[in-house]
Amino acid sequence: MQQCLRIIGRQKTSGSIKINGAKNSAVAILPASLLTGSVVKVENLPGITDIHSLVRILSALGAKISYTTETSLELDLSGVDSFYPPPELVNQLRASYYLMGSLLGRFGQVDIPMPGGCDLGPRPIDQHIKGFSALGASVDLEKGFIKIRAKKLKGAHIYLDVVSVGATVNIMLAAVLAEGKTVLENAAKEPEIVDVANFLNAMGANVKGAGTDVIKIQGVKELGGADHIVIPDRIEAGTFLIAAAATGGEVLVKDVIPKHLDSIIAKLKEVGVEMDIGLDSVLVKASNHLIPSDVKTFPYPGFPTDLQPHMMVLLTCAKGTSLLTENVFERRFRHVEELIKLGAHIKLEGRSAIIEGGHELTGAQLQSMDLRGGASFIIAALISEGETIIRGIEHIDRGYEKIEDRFAALGIKIDRIVQE
Ligand code: UD1
Repeated sequence: MQQCLRIIGRQKTSGSIKINGAKNSAVAILPASLLTGSVVKVENLPGITDIHSLVRILSALGAKISYTTETSLELDLSGVDSFYPPPELVNQLRASYYLMGSLLGRFGQVDIPMPGGCDLGPRPIDQHIKGFSALGASVDLEKGFIKIRAKKLKGAHIYLDVVSVGATVNIMLAAVLAEGKTVLENAAKEPEIVDVANFLNAMGANVKGAGTDVIKIQGVKELGGADHIVIPDRIEAGTFLIAAAATGGEVLVKDVIPKHLDSIIAKLKEVGVEMDIGLDSVLVKASNHLIPSDVKTFPYPGFPTDLQPHMMVLLTCAKGTSLLTENVFERRFRHVEELIKLGAHIKLEGRSAIIEGGHELTGAQLQSMDLRGGASFIIAALISEGETIIRGIEHIDRGYEKIEDRFAALGIKIDRIVQE
């Protein structure tokens, strides 16, 4: 038996929705808290299973954790005395790789299995390892476990070969308590990286330049407690903006930082979606005529790969030919096969998808195989005729809090059902 989502198509989103805290910040900030032996408070956490898994991992390592509100945690890290995160929990999420940087930084050692998470094609961690090694750690792979050891970490000059969010954050985590200065070049610039750096600095670290491609970290002796509020989730915001654009409804997306949505707003405007941008909100107005477009994913501030599947669904509504090129991950097109089941006309050529928009979609049974692909199926189901069943929704729950309730706030009926 498994949980599925059942959606009857041709529903229009309308109303307003408040955006939750950013998954990709929160999944780094909780592991980052291991760098202190004090108490930290983290507010605006999303209620997603990746966070629940991390809470279980940190508790197993000795942290005392309590929810002070539904979205705030207090973590007392004074009792953390283990650097062996439980493998069965580590396997549940990709972001458990941040335990490497933080446990290495605090204890000089960590044993951890290769991280789990979405299958988006090859997702090597060579750049993380290159960073740890440059800081003076030895890294060994034994029976699927990564064993990292360092007597003393020393600041270093590190140039990333590929722009990587995970490697940038992980190297920051390992370097904040290292002796001396670390300079990280060709760093990723995502807003979530700035959020993590702000959290580290609030604990007493000295990190400068986060949000640019050169990050400078002056090591400090120890970190203390901090209070931190997680930034809004630009990917969740983008999901609802695109859902509104695709279904033709008027939706106010609230509690966002519009600057973080620049590439998404620009692309939606190009596709013919009318929007009003407020100080902390974006209003999407209904659009009758969508225009085909070319979209290329890139690291921030480019169009996010995490909204590539959603954008693909939107482009099936624009009559004519659109080209969507995935530049961040080698094989992030597993959703295409499922969208074709709905009647979408999409052809893959290498790293590009050619979308012949304007064909009616009809409901079908879909299997979600990764988090963002799964969420895009909800939008596809909403614009289809008839019933769609989405299976594999544990992937969606990893990154979206009670997605059916979130859509319910926009007048959409989605049932969570149990099927064989
Ligand atoms: C993070 C995000 C994910 C997002 C992705 C790209 C988190 C928890 N996840 O994933 O939602 O889709 O950024 O914006 O924040 N690479 C290497 N070697 C490495 C590391 C990465 O070759 O050591 C490659 C990857 O295979 C990929 C590219 O670099 O092609 C970018 O990956 P990266 O930014 O590291 O993604 P993640 O941190 O896994």
